[in-house]
Amino acid sequence: MSLLFEPLKLRGVTARNRIWLAPMCQYSCFDQDGIPTDWHLVNLGQHAIGGFGIVLTEATAVVPEGRISPEDTGIWSDAHIEPWRRIAEFVRSQGALAGMQLAHAGRKGSTYAPFVDGDGTVPDIEGGWQAVGPSNNAFEGYAEARELKAEEVAALPQAFADAATRADHAGFDLVEIHAAHGYLLHEFLSPLVNHRTDQWGGSFDNRTRIVIEVVDAVRGVWPDDKPLFVRLSATDWADGGWDVEQTTRLAGILKDHGVDVIDVSSGGAVAEQQIVAGPGYQVPFAHEVSSAGVAVATVGLITEPAQAEAILADGSADAVMLGRAAIREPAWPLRAAHELGVPPRDAPYPPQHIRGSWR
Ligand SMILES: Cc1cc2nc3c(=O)[nH]c(=O)nc-3n(C[C@H](O)[C@H](O)[C@H](O)COP(=O)(O)O)c2cc1C
Repeated sequence: MSLLFEPLKLRGVTARNRIWLAPMCQYSCFDQDGIPTDWHLVNLGQHAIGGFGIVLTEATAVVPEGRISPEDTGIWSDAHIEPWRRIAEFVRSQGALAGMQLAHAGRKGSTYAPFVDGDGTVPDIEGGWQAVGPSNNAFEGYAEARELKAEEVAALPQAFADAATRADHAGFDLVEIHAAHGYLLHEFLSPLVNHRTDQWGGSFDNRTRIVIEVVDAVRGVWPDDKPLFVRLSATDWADGGWDVEQTTRLAGILKDHGVDVIDVSSGGAVAEQQIVAGPGYQVPFAHEVSSAGVAVATVGLITEPAQAEAILADGSADAVMLGRAAIREPAWPLRAAHELGVPPRDAPYPPQHIRGSWR
């Protein structure tokens, strides 16, 4: 029996397998209103058809200024609920769990989408805004952020909680709080970005405070029978930055605050990061974070079924997430089942596609 295809129960829901779609921005809300479109339905839907156990949305902004680009999706108003419900319902109808990544881009907000003409920060006239962060500093190549006032930091947990309530109303099975990749919550964690001197800056307890406050607020409104994920960057890949020891320590705390899965990524906080990438390069981080006693997902250059199976077999992670390999091959889990010799009845084929299992 393949470990990849072993179901995983998380609170009151069960992922049919351990192959999960990584969150990936689509920059496809061309009205700049954060409302998901048919693109998002078909894009996420294809991965549900393709057998993924969990289909996660892209980083979805909890407030308008929390978008990365003006074309990002949002969940900051009730008008977002119905369009997202259509997507969550389709994903679930195919046997996958629907997850939404809740995000605030912080100082990396208001930037050009990759396939929109322009570089760096989007000006107001093109739908941009003043990006905010824990401190007045800039990510290289972007405009300087405005430091959030204490009352604005204090309001963040409620913004994430309101977004989670909307995600629940839209029918999502789980939410993932995005605290990685140099976006707002990670900016608070990283001593290289966070230079605050109040209760949200300085010591480990202070830098992690807002993440814990956001988790508490979300867990307070998110149904008890639905799982909560947090994505963390395990390291800034830079001297003096956030690192895997702090990540593991935080993971243990988050577990005690009701987080079910830590999705272990890395990097993104500072331009001077020295990432050493290669196949499965973030797996050792996931393995270390799992020592906190919390379930972990690993992500990053996982491309082959045997490779993914081996990651689970050696106990490094409870699940794998796929990004770019899933773009190239939306039905990657079906290929994996085929290659690993999983009997068709145990593989996540939709009935319309069962002939794909014929040899
Ligand atoms: C097009 C694209 C968009 C992405 N958008 C997000 C995002 O919205 N949120 C996030 O946490 N990571 C995002 N990522 C990172 C992926 O989730 C993943 O961690 C990364 O691509 C490494 O996995 P891979 O090697 O399987 O692609 C994105 C990656 C790609 C390629």
